[in-house]
Amino acid sequence: MLISLDNIQKYYKVGKDSIHVLKSLNLQIESGEFVIIMGKSGSGKTTLLNLLGFLDTFEEGRYLFNGKDVTDLNESQRSDFRNNNIGFIFQQFNLIETLSIYQNVELPLLYSKKYKRSQREAVIREKLMQVGLLDKIDVKPLQLSGGQQQRIAVARALANDPQIIFADEPTGALDSETSTDIMELLKRLNEGGKTIIMVTHDQDLVKYATKIVRLKDGVFVSEV
Ligand SMILES: Nc1ncnc2c1ncn2[C@@H]1O[C@H](COP(=O)(O)OP(=O)(O)OP(=O)(O)O)[C@@H](O)[C@H]1O
Ligand SMILES: [Mg+2]
Repeated sequence: MLISLDNIQKYYKVGKDSIHVLKSLNLQIESGEFVIIMGKSGSGKTTLLNLLGFLDTFEEGRYLFNGKDVTDLNESQRSDFRNNNIGFIFQQFNLIETLSIYQNVELPLLYSKKYKRSQREAVIREKLMQVGLLDKIDVKPLQLSGGQQQRIAVARALANDPQIIFADEPTGALDSETSTDIMELLKRLNEGGKTIIMVTHDQDLVKYATKIVRLKDGVFVSEV
């Protein structure tokens, strides 16, 4: 089992109030799955992805990652875990506009000890090749189309060879043809062994999933 959540409770504090966002969630994900998380706006999808990806914490419950209990990791252990095991892709690509494509894809390598400095360029070239955009290595993000920027974001997510890719509405800002390109890229990565956990509103994309979970007000209402 790659991921196991047991009875997770997540609250956000807003002033004196506390919002109960995830309610007694249980979730099991095997290595190699392509999981799609669906649910209305505000149902807790991003919150769930962020806590699975060590970007956020939770109040109660247990989280096992690869059989290791990661519930009580401190901040620096959490960022180590994130940098070495997880790649993120976002709706708005989140590339850094002032950096070149090379430098954007290099970023995860600067936060991890996985590759030595002398290996970095070869790794960056390999990842750009994988997404079909090696020729863009020296340009800046805003010189690229949305679909190309998202491919670069995928290359960046792949830089440290993470086991899992988390994608929060990765096609939300793309037209349908470009969405299909990105989905086919994710599908190929999944066939190559990456576990993909993706949030989407787009019902047409469920065909890519090996597992579909639906969140409603912080509770899973169905799992297929
Ligand atoms: N940092 C925060 N502080 C307080 N409340 C938050 C915070 N982030 C999210 N929330 C609240 O938690 C609930 C779940 O938010 P979340 O972003 O996880 O929803 P979502 O399912 O991703 O929605 P969307 O489809 O619009 O992206 C919402 O009620 C939201 O207002
Ligand atoms: Mg969201």
